[in-house]
Amino acid sequence: MKEKLLINGGKILSGEIEVEASKNAYLPILAGSILCDDNVTFLNAPHFSDIENMCEILKLLNIKVLREGDILTLDLHNKKNEKISHEHTNKLRASIFLLGPLLAVFKQAVISYPGGCNIGTRPIDIHINAFKSLGVKIVERHGYIYANAQNMKAGKVVFSSVSVGATESVMMSAVLLKGKTTLYNVAREPEVKELARFLNALGAKITGAGTEKIEIEGVKKLKGVEFSVCRDRIVAGTHLLLGALLGKDMRILGARREDNEILFNILKESACEIKEDNLGVTVSSCGRSEAYKFIETLPYPNFPTDLQPQLMVFETLANGTCVIKENLFENRFNHVMELVKMGADIFVKDRLAIIKGVEKLYGADVFASDLRAGAGLVIAGLVAEGYSTVHNISYIDRGYERLEEKYARLGADIKRLQE
Ligand code: UD1
Repeated sequence: MKEKLLINGGKILSGEIEVEASKNAYLPILAGSILCDDNVTFLNAPHFSDIENMCEILKLLNIKVLREGDILTLDLHNKKNEKISHEHTNKLRASIFLLGPLLAVFKQAVISYPGGCNIGTRPIDIHINAFKSLGVKIVERHGYIYANAQNMKAGKVVFSSVSVGATESVMMSAVLLKGKTTLYNVAREPEVKELARFLNALGAKITGAGTEKIEIEGVKKLKGVEFSVCRDRIVAGTHLLLGALLGKDMRILGARREDNEILFNILKESACEIKEDNLGVTVSSCGRSEAYKFIETLPYPNFPTDLQPQLMVFETLANGTCVIKENLFENRFNHVMELVKMGADIFVKDRLAIIKGVEKLYGADVFASDLRAGAGLVIAGLVAEGYSTVHNISYIDRGYERLEEKYARLGADIKRLQE
């Protein structure tokens, strides 16, 4: 059933909103659970469709998945290897995370190419080449990856460029290998650290996550755990940008400066007030801000591509011109046309978006093209004058939990309707 969000913009937002656990941490962690033969219980599993879709694949592998509210238990005692078809992988790029754990446990895997948000070609060559460098035999045929790890050995992997997913994939594949595997030029994202924290809680021996080199000392077996995953820094950043536009003492529980250092700095320079405490931040808008001159998306600890659309919405209303350079994904400006429909003044040239601030956005019918673009359009609708309808909201549900209910509790006029 297709749904849309109807928003009557311009309402001031106050009260509390809580940030859910991180989608991008959860997805590899769910896949990594396969490495253990016991029960694994997650105490704070959000209701994101990406998480539900990953659980559907786990069920296919004969893993019992039990959900009671936010508590998600995986019973991994009777897991088995299965070919993972396009029907399962096309909904979720994170399906590629299954390859490493399946190779570690079953020594072979057959999996269709991953799907996911439409933000660029998103190849998986870095994953594949890294596995090959550890001795995995891989044949790519008819849209499937056939991988055999009978001769896989611990060793050295030097990533050709920094990839969050490839770092996580290979890290998981090496946990049960005999000997030491060293990964160079790895991603330093907090989600990589969180995966290492989870695997170590299961009994793995991983050091260096969060730096440029990760070392994995192989262990024979992992044990079950109860685990809570860190908060979603991208969701926190989304709420923060919304609060900077419309907040009046809007309290974001679980938002932390250290997760979004650059965004905090941008916002501190703009017209908004942010108070930090142990549990989160309180943000109030102080009116129209000065445009931030230039910002580019780059791997952590730089500005995240996953907050680029939301920041762009913020800058459409600033005083002056902001240039945003998107370095990660070649097709991540799909929200621009939708924002222009709402009155934004944005010009795109290759990977640059030149945003000249306008005084107002006006409600319009707009279409989400991916998860974070969708979140950006919701912010735009909330700040615009009049009614907006955001279509294609299944993208938003991939990584935000009933966003409209949370924003409505802050005072937004927003509801979910059937198309
Ligand atoms: C992860 C995040 C995603 C975020 C991205 C960048 C998850 C589930 N998703 O995606 O939300 O936007 O990091 O922070 O954690 N690349 C290749 N070949 C590969 C792999 C990647 O060329 O095999 C390229 C990509 O096209 C991109 C760059 O490397 O240009 C970085 O991508 P990567 O870090 O791998 O992103 P994901 O792990 O897919």
